[in-house]
Amino acid sequence: MCGIVGYIGSKEIKHELIEGLRELEYRGYDSAGIAVMQHGNIQAFKAVGKLNNLEEKTRNFETSGPGIGIGHTRWATHGKPTELNAHPHMGQYSYVVHNGIIENYREIKSMLEGEGVHFLSQTDTEVIVHLFEKEAADAEDAEALFKAFKHTIEQLDGAYAVLLITQKAPETIFFARKGSPMIIGRNSEGEIYFASSDAPLIGKAEEVAYMEDGVIGYATPDAIHAEPDHLEFVPLSGDKLSAQKGGFRFFMEKEIYEQYQVMSDTMIGRVLDEDVAFEELSNDFLEGIERIKICACGTSYHAALTSSYLFERQARMPVNVEIASEFRYKEPLLNPDTLFIVISQSGETADTLEALRMAKEAGLKTLAICNVDNSSIVRMADTSILTRAGIEKGVASTKAFATQTMVLWMLSLFFAKRRGSVDAKTVATETSFMHQVPRVLKEALDVHEKCKRLSKRYLHGHGFFFIGRDIFYPLALEGALKLKEISYLHAEGYPAGEMKHGPIALADAELFTVALMPKTILYDKTKSNVEELSARDSTILSISPEMFELADDFILTHPHAHPMLEFFEMMVVEQLLAMEIAIRLGNDVDMPRNLAKSVTVE
Ligand code: G6P
Repeated sequence: MCGIVGYIGSKEIKHELIEGLRELEYRGYDSAGIAVMQHGNIQAFKAVGKLNNLEEKTRNFETSGPGIGIGHTRWATHGKPTELNAHPHMGQYSYVVHNGIIENYREIKSMLEGEGVHFLSQTDTEVIVHLFEKEAADAEDAEALFKAFKHTIEQLDGAYAVLLITQKAPETIFFARKGSPMIIGRNSEGEIYFASSDAPLIGKAEEVAYMEDGVIGYATPDAIHAEPDHLEFVPLSGDKLSAQKGGFRFFMEKEIYEQYQVMSDTMIGRVLDEDVAFEELSNDFLEGIERIKICACGTSYHAALTSSYLFERQARMPVNVEIASEFRYKEPLLNPDTLFIVISQSGETADTLEALRMAKEAGLKTLAICNVDNSSIVRMADTSILTRAGIEKGVASTKAFATQTMVLWMLSLFFAKRRGSVDAKTVATETSFMHQVPRVLKEALDVHEKCKRLSKRYLHGHGFFFIGRDIFYPLALEGALKLKEISYLHAEGYPAGEMKHGPIALADAELFTVALMPKTILYDKTKSNVEELSARDSTILSISPEMFELADDFILTHPHAHPMLEFFEMMVVEQLLAMEIAIRLGNDVDMPRNLAKSVTVE
C-alpha cells in the first residue's frame, strides 16, 4: 500500500533510495520515483511499473558527497498508475512522497486552484506540496519552514506518512505520520533513514524509532527534531539474508517451503510437553471473559473463521468472526465480557486497525495476533501474540496464515483448559498432535511435483470451486483466494454441503471442483457432496488421503489422526497448486496485479 523511503548521508543517494524501495516493493508496484537534493538542487525521476523501470531510467544518474533524498513505490488509490501520478510530487521548489489517503484533498485542491495553483496529477498527494508552498511563501529560516510544514499537515484529514524536501532547506527532510506507518533509523556514521517498514533499515540503521500517530518533525545531518514527544530509539536487529529468495523462484515458494521451520518458532514456549501456555495472557487480563469476537481481513479472516470452529468445539465459548471493513460501519453491539481479537500479518491493515480502535473505545479487552512487532496494531492492542513467521514478502500470504492458524489452535486449547471444558489428558493429547505440525508441513511438500504436473490441466475452464466442510470450509475459502490472487482465474470457496443450494447449477466439465476430503472429519458427508458434483460432470480434483473413485485427478495426502494435521497438509497443497498454476500462466507470483501486501487505506 505504497512504500516510502528517505535518506540523509554521504553514500550514493540514488542507490540507497532504490535499495530501500526494493525492500518495500511488495507494498505496491504501479510506479516508483525518487527525488535527490544536492547543493540546493533537486533532481527527480519517475517510472511507471516496477522498480526495474526506475532503475533503468536513472542508470546514468549518480551522486557523490552528502545530500538527501526521498523515494516512493506506489499502489494507486487516486489516479491511474501513470508517470504524472507517480510520486514524488513537485511544487515550484519542493517535493513530497506520501503513503495513505488525504480524504479532504478535493476541498484543498479547489481552494488552491482558486488561487491559481496548477495541478499536474490526479492524486490526493499533490495537494500537500502546493499547500506547503503556500504556507511557506514567506518562510526563509528553518523555524519558519517547519511552522509552514506543521500548518500544512494540520489541514490534512485522513491517513498519511509524509516526507517532504524543499530547496529552501537543502539539508532537511520534513516528516509527519498519522495512520500510515513510518520508521526512522540512524547509525554511527551519521546517516538517517526513513522507511514504511523496518525491512529496508536492516543492515543500515543501528537504531530505529517507530513513530507514533501524530508525530511531526524534521531531520538534518545534525539533528532529528520531533513533536509532540521525542522519538524513542531502540536497537534494530534482524537478518537481512532471511528476507532474500535463497534459491527459490519466488518469495512465495520460499515462504511455503519454510513453513515447517517458522512453525517451530511459533510454538516455542507455548506448546509445552503436555500443556499450552501464553505468557502474553495474564489471569487478570482474562478475568471475566466469556466470549470472543475476531476481526480481520483477507487471509487473516480465513484464519479467524477456522478458529471459530476450534474455540466453540474445544473451549465451548461463543465466537463471532467479522470482516473488519464490515464491522466498522455496522454499529456493532459490544459487550464488556468479550475479548476482542484482531488478526493481521502486517499489523497495518487500515480496516483492522480501525476495528481495534473501536473496540478499545468501547472498553473491550483487546488482543492482536500479528506477525510484525512494533506495528500499529501491536502497539494499539492491550496485548499481542506474535506469530513469529519472519518477514513475509510474497503478496499471497502463506506462512503468515499457517502461523496465525497455529496460534489460534493453541489459543483455543489454552481457553479450553482454563475454562475446564477439556481435561488434562485431552490437553496432553492435543499438544502431542501440535508437536507434529512442523513435520506435517515438511512432508506435505512431497506433492510439489504432482502439483506442477496437474497445473497443466487446470488453466482454463470457467472457474474453480474449492469445497470443504467444517474447518475445511475456511480452508476452501483460502485455497480459492490464493488461486484468484496470483492466477487471476475465477475461484470460489464454498461449504461442500451448500453447493446444492445454487452453485451446483454451474456444474459441467469446464467447472473445476477442488474437493478437500479429510478422513478425520465428515468424510462421508463431503464424499456425497462431491458425488453430486461428479454426477453433473464437474471435473473433480480430490485432495484426500484416500483415493476417490469418481475424481478425475487425485492429490493423495498422508493419513493423519487429527483434523488440524490434515488441515495443515491440505493448506500446503492448495498453496503449491495455486503457485504452479500462476507460474504456468506466466504471472509474477510475488507481485500479482492490482494487489498490495499491506493495505493501509480503507
Ligand atoms: C491484503 C493482502 C492479503 C492479506 C490482507 C490482510 O489484501 O494482499 O494477503 O490477507 O491484506 O492483511 P493483514 O496484514 O492484515 O493480514
